[in-house]
Amino acid sequence: MKISINLAHRLLTAARKAAFRSYSPYSEFPVGAALLTSSRRILTGCNVENSSYGLTLCAERNAVTIAVAAGYRQFNALAVVGGRGQPAQPCGACLQVLAEFCPPEFPVFLASLDCPRKPEITTLGNLLPHAFRLSGPSHS
Ligand code: THU
Repeated sequence: MKISINLAHRLLTAARKAAFRSYSPYSEFPVGAALLTSSRRILTGCNVENSSYGLTLCAERNAVTIAVAAGYRQFNALAVVGGRGQPAQPCGACLQVLAEFCPPEFPVFLASLDCPRKPEITTLGNLLPHAFRLSGPSHS
């Protein structure tokens, strides 16, 4: 799906706004994510850390679970805003969760907090070329 530059900017603005709601006192690395649904709604998530570090929740996975819990499973694009200078890259776990719902050609816009209007434009398949899929007798 082709996303207009206008829509990409709206998505990046929503992701940046979500990053400012991040709870990240340990890493001091706020991240925001915004998912565009096929019905053109925008749902956002931010990273939420915990003093038991391993319980930290990433912004992208939060956006996906928030969207699914709100009844949305079809997405047209994702924007992630984090880092300064260089945009934060989504971690492998978040990419695998996205691959549950989105195809390899799914557009992903990545921008830093200080340059939200100059995104790196990529796809889920480019970021995670070999997503895990269940296969075998009961799943093929
Ligand atoms: N983080 C995300 O929110 N998304 C990612 O894809 C990678 C990392 C967060 C987790 C943690 O709160 C902070 O960035 C530093 O690792």
